[in-house]
Amino acid sequence: MKGIVLAGGSGSRLYPVTGAVSKQLLPVYDKPMIYYPLSVLMFGGIRDILIISTPADLPQFERLLGDGSALGLRLTYAEQAQPNGLAEAFLIGADHVGDDSVALVLGDNIFHGPGFPAQLRRSIADLDGCVLFGYPVKDPGRYGVGEADDNGRLISIEEKPAVPRSNRAITGLYLYDNDVLRIARQITPSARGELEITDVNHVYLERGTATLIDLGRGFAWLDTGTHDSLLEAGQYVQVLEHRQGIRIACLEEIALDMGYIDPDSCYLLGEKLGSSRYGEYVMSVAKAAGAIG
Ligand code: TTP
Repeated sequence: MKGIVLAGGSGSRLYPVTGAVSKQLLPVYDKPMIYYPLSVLMFGGIRDILIISTPADLPQFERLLGDGSALGLRLTYAEQAQPNGLAEAFLIGADHVGDDSVALVLGDNIFHGPGFPAQLRRSIADLDGCVLFGYPVKDPGRYGVGEADDNGRLISIEEKPAVPRSNRAITGLYLYDNDVLRIARQITPSARGELEITDVNHVYLERGTATLIDLGRGFAWLDTGTHDSLLEAGQYVQVLEHRQGIRIACLEEIALDMGYIDPDSCYLLGEKLGSSRYGEYVMSVAKAAGAIG
């Protein structure tokens, strides 16, 4: 399976913060926002990843992450000229996806919860059509809303409904078989001028091959799109990291755990960041895994 991180958009709800900096490069406590969605793809075992952003912001992502080889990944980059909608990712990323299946994750989505990596790997292994992830929210009308039958089959999906049929918001992580490339080519822009991911998902729903997985109450799906939600996401990460002495979405640690890099390489990555607590943490996990240091 290939991966795509969609990290463009205008970030207008965060103005003036995003006047000169991409939203997805802003810090969520101790690391850039894009680390969180990248970690999701890595947990899924996906190593070949396309990062899509605006022409102005793309060079900054490249500067931050390079070709990914230090993490045992293959990272490539592509521009989205205008925020023409989430489904445009499959037009821009068609060559990258090739004949493969694909996971799309939005660059401003944070997922954290027990058992998530295992759940994700199961969903990828069993993929037949598309898999969406639903999260209970108190204000579903702000999101794409999905409804599933008892077997987890998606039976309805609506974009920002006035009267939501469930409280399940569709989160920014989507798994698709290769047919998504053809489907994305066939949909047309909506009234707001965007290629809507909901229209793509509708096609799978009508085929009966869309699954909605419930992320449940013990899970955190965090929004970072407004000043308050960005700060709250940072505080959530800070509280967990301080309390447990772990780091959420530490890419070096995940690469080590997934066997993409060895402990010595991990230690060197930590050393480069060594004057920060983050770097010290990377060195400590590398040492615990047997790095000579
Ligand atoms: P949104 O939150 O819908 O938009 P935005 O990030 O531009 O923010 P705002 O509403 O404040 O202007 O986008 C969700 C994610 O998808 C976010 O990571 C940006 C990204 N995105 C693109 O990369 N391209 C697009 O065409 C759209 C619509 C969104």
